[in-house]
Amino acid sequence: MTLSTAELRNAFFSYFASNNHQQVSSSSLVPSDDPTLLFTNAGMNQFKDVFLGKEKRSYTRAVSSQRCVRAGGKHNDLENVGYTARHHTFFEMLGNFSFGDYFKKEAIQFAWSFLTEELKLPKEKLLVTVYSEDDEAFRIWQDDIGIPVEKIIRISTSDNFWSMGDTGPCGPCSEIFYDHGEHIWGGPPGSPEEDGDRFIEIWNLVFMQFNKQANGDMLPLPSPSIDTGMGLERISAILQNVHSNYEIDLFVNLIDAAASIIGTQDKENKSLRVVADHIRSCAFLICDGVMPSNEGRGYVLRRIIRRAVRHGYKLGASDIFFYRLVEQLCKEMGEAYPEIVEQRPVIEKVLRVEEEQFSKTLERGMVILNEAIEQLTTDTLSGDVIFKLYDTYGFPVDLTNDVAREKNIKLDETGFESAMQAQRLRAQKASNFGVDYSSNVAVESTTEFVGYDAYSDESDILDIIAGQEKSQQLEDEEEGIIVLAKTPFYAESGGQVGDTGTLRSGDSTFLVKDTQKLGNAFAHRGVAKGKFVVGDKVTATINNENREAIKRNHSATHLLHAALREVLGEHVTQKGSLVDDQKLRFDFSHFESITAEELSLIEQRVNEEIRANHPLETQLMELEEAKESGAMALFGEKYDEKVRVVSMGKFSVELCGGTHVSSTGNIGLFVLTSESGIASGIRRIEATTGSQALKIVQSHNAILKQSASLLKTDLDSVAQKVELLQSQLKQTEKALSKLKDKEASQQGADLLSSKVGINGIDVLIAKLDGVETKALRPMMDDLKNRLKQGVVVLGTANDSKVGLIAGVTKDLTNKVKAGDLVNFVAAQVGGKGGGRPDMAQAGGDKPENLAAALDSVNEWLKDKL
Ligand code: ALA
Repeated sequence: MTLSTAELRNAFFSYFASNNHQQVSSSSLVPSDDPTLLFTNAGMNQFKDVFLGKEKRSYTRAVSSQRCVRAGGKHNDLENVGYTARHHTFFEMLGNFSFGDYFKKEAIQFAWSFLTEELKLPKEKLLVTVYSEDDEAFRIWQDDIGIPVEKIIRISTSDNFWSMGDTGPCGPCSEIFYDHGEHIWGGPPGSPEEDGDRFIEIWNLVFMQFNKQANGDMLPLPSPSIDTGMGLERISAILQNVHSNYEIDLFVNLIDAAASIIGTQDKENKSLRVVADHIRSCAFLICDGVMPSNEGRGYVLRRIIRRAVRHGYKLGASDIFFYRLVEQLCKEMGEAYPEIVEQRPVIEKVLRVEEEQFSKTLERGMVILNEAIEQLTTDTLSGDVIFKLYDTYGFPVDLTNDVAREKNIKLDETGFESAMQAQRLRAQKASNFGVDYSSNVAVESTTEFVGYDAYSDESDILDIIAGQEKSQQLEDEEEGIIVLAKTPFYAESGGQVGDTGTLRSGDSTFLVKDTQKLGNAFAHRGVAKGKFVVGDKVTATINNENREAIKRNHSATHLLHAALREVLGEHVTQKGSLVDDQKLRFDFSHFESITAEELSLIEQRVNEEIRANHPLETQLMELEEAKESGAMALFGEKYDEKVRVVSMGKFSVELCGGTHVSSTGNIGLFVLTSESGIASGIRRIEATTGSQALKIVQSHNAILKQSASLLKTDLDSVAQKVELLQSQLKQTEKALSKLKDKEASQQGADLLSSKVGINGIDVLIAKLDGVETKALRPMMDDLKNRLKQGVVVLGTANDSKVGLIAGVTKDLTNKVKAGDLVNFVAAQVGGKGGGRPDMAQAGGDKPENLAAALDSVNEWLKDKL
């Protein structure tokens, strides 16, 4: 049976849908709310909280095709791409999942029946592995499925114990392998030849049973579950009767497109595979909101783009090419992932800008490398230079190597390695994404949020966490978390900060400093004044004033978002947002700087919509319905099936769970406070509203009035007056500097009279007080010119510093070197110097020794001249 990649994806969905699995869309490559994970690297990521029992869904069986990136973090294949038949930075993982529904037996039966009955793979070509201690899985394969024992291999290593990361859901697994045939070298799993390409793992069935803790403890999951993963590209290769993943329809088409864009005929070249692989990860990462940068996710993206570009140039690309592959990618994958088609203009633009910058980097790197080579005194380029080129200028090491080889220059590889090692250590530290301290405490309760309407409410305490542990009570003065059955406190999400306020019970008060989500529970964090016990009734009251300010800033953020799209264009999408009681901060995609006129227009538009006083409406809808209605949704955000749509007239319609003013007029006033670029293609605006905004306007007014009065002018003329003063100041400075030069030259002429003769040679030694060190140099030039033949030493003391200069006319440098002379003096005033044989300078920090040091020069010179 032959199936295209798209047909195969659909066959997988239909098989599991007909076995009562809910089809779930792929989640973003940027894991939402999971600080332990760099990129989505497996189908189960989006279900992590469901496995842990922190989140409930309306289904217990699911099927998905998940976009994954393995190019950083625990699972990283970047450097292998291009060199093997099966490694990718980006791939799709087909998976079926059971959340406390079926377990080992059904998971194995489903997999076997899909492969052998639906796809009709020959049974004799399949073999399986199980975790060495997992007798149950062994028996299912042997007795229920009927696989001969010699084809069930027990593996004792971590290969058959899958975990998502250093912490989180994990369990033993059983893998299904396909035998590509004797003509390919390699041995079965567990054999010394297992790394060969003959036996290929196609499906991993994970029997999820534990939640691994940071300290290594394995806590049981609430119920045993199933997570499976089958690489779509691998199984496609089998069904299309090809050996390498790069020979499947999708890759053949991408490789053809790359070859024709780059202009190469060499279709077998490994670099084409690299380019075809990398366009997938880069395009999808940008689609999911990652932008090239120098840290974290953005840094990984930048490295992948650069690797692709470099391979393109190796193939002979003579112009910016990488972004042009997005068109073909959309043809191949746009149907399964419509978001990539929607985001195509942004993806292309980001890739183009990044490649343009990188080609400049390459040019600049060549200049630096050539300079370094010219200055070489040996035949080896030092490790530090190679590392600096690589790390600071992004100049690839193999290019350094190529250039060096052409010029018969060796590379100090050991030096480079040790610099790299130091860098890796730094990077490792940087990528240790912190784990939220409370995430290890499983809270199963669910909190109802009543804060859209109420500021204060009565409720019961469901859970208490004291320190890292669940507890029955919180003592007086103890810090901890209190979870209530219902609460008016908003828990931080969607960029809006958590509420502050108080929980009161009798005489005890819990001061809430922050509110965060913990699964489905709302965690009020703070400190107890008096005792609190699980089951206590409390009155929960939020800080009203703060909440009002937060509401104004949040609603203004929506107006700003809409105004940005209106003024700058529809390409503007939200990349980050923070709303608190003081301000709002909004990051968004835009590729040019924003002019003062545009900024002023944006501010005006938001204020106009405030004055229009739109009533704010909220509506609950199905996600799909909301998207169809044109509501703005964020890529990469994990939305529930039912979503809340917030509208302010027709001007702004957005999916949002946050709290808002009841009509836009309540915002009062909107004032922009700053605008800047924070990464390539991303800009940030900060602004504020209401009384904060008024405060800013008033304080700016006061500053302006004060300035006008100091400048003795009216408000409108302040800028003009400052300009005038600046130009007057410049003229005065110029005149002053001329005067100083003249004075110095006069001083030089005067000095000449104090010269002495040593062995018939003119020697002039002088201590000049109050002369700036930088004035010594022109003085020295002047004196040497006047002397024609001689030796000069000048010293000056300013505050606690000494400045020294020594000059020797050229014909005398064989007798006295200016460097030796200046160092002789410098050593006595606590300094050191250097320069040429005819002119050298030094500093020092003992001005009290300067006079004696200068006096000693005559003696020193006597036997040299
Ligand atoms: N989560 C499992 C894997 O990635 C299925 O292999």
